Amino acid sequence: MTTCQNPTTNGTEKPAHSTAYLTQLNICLLYAYTMIHSLFYTLGWVLLVTVISSIIRAWIDRWKLRAIPSVGYSGVLTSYLGAIQFSRKGHELIQEGYEKYPGTAFKVPMLFKWLIVINGPKMLDDIRRAGPDEVNARKALAEIVSSKYTMGPEIQEDYYHVAAVRSPLTKNLATRFADVQDEIACAFDDFIPRTEEWTKVPALSTAMHIISRTSNRLFVGLPLCRNLDYLRLNEEYAKNVMDAGLKITLFPSFLMPLAAYFFSTLQKSLNQSTSHLGSIIQDRLDKEREYGPDWPEKPNDLITWLLSEAPSELKTVRDVTLRVLAVNFAAIHTTSLAFTHALYDLASRPSYVTALREEVESVIEEDGLNKLALGKMRKLDSFIKESHRLGPTGALVVDRKILKDFTFSNGVVIPAGYAIAAANAATNCDDANYPNAREFDGFRFSKMRESEGEGIKHQMVSPNLNYLSFGTGRYICPGRFFAVNELKAMLAYVLLKYDVKVEDGKRPKDAWFGRMSMPNLTASVMFRRRT
Ligand code: HEM
Ligand SMILES: *[C@@H]1O[C@H](CO)[C@@H](O)[C@H](O)[C@H]1NC(C)=O
Ligand SMILES: *[C@@H]1O[C@H](CO)[C@@H](O)[C@H](O)[C@H]1NC(C)=O
Repeated sequence: MTTCQNPTTNGTEKPAHSTAYLTQLNICLLYAYTMIHSLFYTLGWVLLVTVISSIIRAWIDRWKLRAIPSVGYSGVLTSYLGAIQFSRKGHELIQEGYEKYPGTAFKVPMLFKWLIVINGPKMLDDIRRAGPDEVNARKALAEIVSSKYTMGPEIQEDYYHVAAVRSPLTKNLATRFADVQDEIACAFDDFIPRTEEWTKVPALSTAMHIISRTSNRLFVGLPLCRNLDYLRLNEEYAKNVMDAGLKITLFPSFLMPLAAYFFSTLQKSLNQSTSHLGSIIQDRLDKEREYGPDWPEKPNDLITWLLSEAPSELKTVRDVTLRVLAVNFAAIHTTSLAFTHALYDLASRPSYVTALREEVESVIEEDGLNKLALGKMRKLDSFIKESHRLGPTGALVVDRKILKDFTFSNGVVIPAGYAIAAANAATNCDDANYPNAREFDGFRFSKMRESEGEGIKHQMVSPNLNYLSFGTGRYICPGRFFAVNELKAMLAYVLLKYDVKVEDGKRPKDAWFGRMSMPNLTASVMFRRRT
């Protein structure tokens, strides 16, 4: 202090200024240092808390799930290796567990948690009978994709969009069939030239464009169903939800809102979608307010069906827009993957073409082309079902969250809080369920329908514990009637109008990513006008 106040050096302006400047700089540096320090300090704590809590969690899991055998690495620390192993060959691990532990349950390590696979029809039947307060599919999906942050928190509060698909949408398939058929024809003509020369067409991306257009003809009608920006945003929505969901679930739950702030694309999708749907939905809400729920000339589409199921407090532009996105999410990719598999199968197995064409043509000759006629195309149904059996959406299906400790009829107990699922691909490839299960037999199911005299048991939409593509029980896919109709109408169109083949005669190979399976994403199919 004294040195500073040395009376012999009269403080001039200059040094005073530079001291002030230096002090300011120092304060800034100190401030920055403190900020960085406290940031690292906080991050350090967050990391430590996260690591300790996940180790404790791993020990608790190990104790609570000790009765359930595991496949892959399974120690408290090695289970993290197991998670990496799962992301690389999850499909093989599930297959291994399926063969090793028939009729019971086994667990596989995922990052930060275990997934329990229930094995065999008995356990599935127990799940089917369980109430939603014990065993819940929506809570499982909500966790997988962090739906609160990626699809909107209101989706979890009310599932009226599921009711809208299950009931009014499905009931209107016959009435709206002509529109869907018209869109299939227009979309194929736009995307796949009918020329005498062979044209190479990328299968999956083209299937997706045709399917998003066709589905949205049913959902929102013309002209919006042909708006490229609207279609693109709906095609991308599922990918955005999955990507953001995957990132957000890597964080411990107390950090998820922060992660969502950085990764969620919900607001962007919602904005874009609202720019197309906002005024349409607002108009419906206004008309309903003015004339009551059954105003004349009300369009017969998804928006109407949603409003017929929505509780009054959720009848808002935002909420209905979120539901249209959610239904597109459930519909577009699933159906596009299934169609791509069917197309690869048709193009690489020319021996099926004649019989399929004969069936399609003779049914149309008798009944015309409508929903009832599609119902009579059993060989076509069988072919698509067989294609989907060997090209399912993944190794696992029937994801459920256990909400109360649940005891299966075989005595296995799954404690509350854990996630379960059933083996999909392994069930489909089990010789006990399907003779020569790994062989493609396009008319497998239509032959079963003939020989067993069964009208509907073996058709693609019928629930069956050995065919889990659409799930089971109260949560079974409500869109499956539409999906199968659309798939059949599309493949029938291909059969009637085009010849197809694969370039080198070989069916493009499927690929696996963790639990997911995909047909080759980039391969092409050759098309030309039918001769
Ligand atoms: C080939 C195409 C499709 C496949 C493979 C498929 C598969 C599935 C599966 C496995 C589930 C879960 C069932 C369970 O956990 O038990 C599901 C649920 C659902 N699907 Fe599909 N789906 C397809 C097409 C569609 C379409 C076209 C729509 C809409 C029009 C749709 C709407 C839904 C909805 C809303 C749910 C949720 C059901 C609930 O929460 O209760 N799906 N789907
Ligand atoms: C969404 O729209 C709102 C209002 O128009 C705007 O304030 C917001 O920045 C937009 N958000 C994104 C992510 O586009
Ligand atoms: C998919 O098909 C493309 C084009 O035919 C090929 O180059 C690629 O190797 C295939 N991918 C897989 C995983 O088989």
